[in-house]
Amino acid sequence: MKYNDINFNEKTILITGGAGFIGSNLAFYFQENYPEANVIVLDCFRSEETFSNGNLKSFGHFKNLLGFSGTVISGNINDKELLKNLEENYKFDYIFHQAAISDTTVSEQDMMIKTNVNAYEDLLKIAIKHKANMIYASSAATYGDSDVFEVGYEKPNNVYGFSKVMMDNITKKYLKKDLDISIVGLKYFNVYGQREFYKNKTASMVVQFGHQILKGLTPKLFEGSDKILRDFIYIQDVIQANIKACKPKKSGIYNVGTGKARSFEDIVNILQKELNIDNGKEYIKNPYIGQYQFFTQANIKSSEENLGYKPNYSLEDGIKAYIEDIKRLYEEEVKW
Ligand SMILES: NC(=O)c1ccc[n+]([C@@H]2O[C@H](COP(=O)([O-])OP(=O)(O)OC[C@H]3O[C@@H](n4cnc5c(N)ncnc54)[C@H](O)[C@@H]3O)[C@@H](O)[C@H]2O)c1
Repeated sequence: MKYNDINFNEKTILITGGAGFIGSNLAFYFQENYPEANVIVLDCFRSEETFSNGNLKSFGHFKNLLGFSGTVISGNINDKELLKNLEENYKFDYIFHQAAISDTTVSEQDMMIKTNVNAYEDLLKIAIKHKANMIYASSAATYGDSDVFEVGYEKPNNVYGFSKVMMDNITKKYLKKDLDISIVGLKYFNVYGQREFYKNKTASMVVQFGHQILKGLTPKLFEGSDKILRDFIYIQDVIQANIKACKPKKSGIYNVGTGKARSFEDIVNILQKELNIDNGKEYIKNPYIGQYQFFTQANIKSSEENLGYKPNYSLEDGIKAYIEDIKRLYEEEVKW
């Protein structure tokens, strides 16, 4: 599906973090809709290395790119030599910057700031030199303890959310200059959908509950789950936002959500209905009270006005579109 009239064929497109969840979906979006586009995926891929929270340092996985026919570069966005080579050997038309430490529970502040903040500015400088429009991933985690989900009301409560606020601040600083390019930051809310599985424990609760239900387990919800509400957004709507962000009415920072908060209980109910399995539900005490977001809901007015973004998928529609893949993953990756 084409979301606007830009012809990306013959264009050179850099996708950082292209072996991850959102980046790989973007790579396939171009491959399927603009087969003559020159798509370059840059990702450091995964190794065995972990952070102190026990999770992998990076989640990029070759399986997200099975069938991809563009260029794949394994490299680290913190590597200045690599960035210099990219700057000299390519002429990008668009940069989709998705690479980041995406795990919100990582506590290594040094690596988080270096990777998420400093490398972004380096890539932005390449975008400006190449006259490439920059579209980068910010996050709803920037809102943290805020109860207003509009740009300008950020209140991050972890270093991940802070790093994304710093990216947005860099953007604001550059937008004051007279630039030839557009820069759009997209504050994704809770994204779910195809190719998130290799994020392991940091994948959405949609796929995690889906696999628990298929295993015959009773999904465990926090007490009061019907009142824990989040804005869950399906991957196809995130792709739509990225494509529309290539031609914004106005550069800036925009929310990407459905605009409707839904509960974790809703997720379980929809999954059990779509899977035609009823394992009931179990309620457990919430150990995170005090450090847990109980409500997020994107205000998408300015995204609608300035990007022409309009979500197509309700939570029901998104889970329906995703369910066959949840079952396939269960058969191929989980069951054994
Ligand atoms: N998925 C969500 O719900 C969500 C919500 C808000 C924001 N975001 C942001 O969207 C972007 C994409 O997230 P995702 O869900 O696809 O996560 P992901 O972890 O699947 O993708 C990030 C990719 O970046 C790569 N990467 C990490 N460090 C790197 C480095 N130093 N050099 C090169 N590559 C590196 C990883 O290998 C991974 O493939 C991230 O910036 C993330 O912070 C995601």
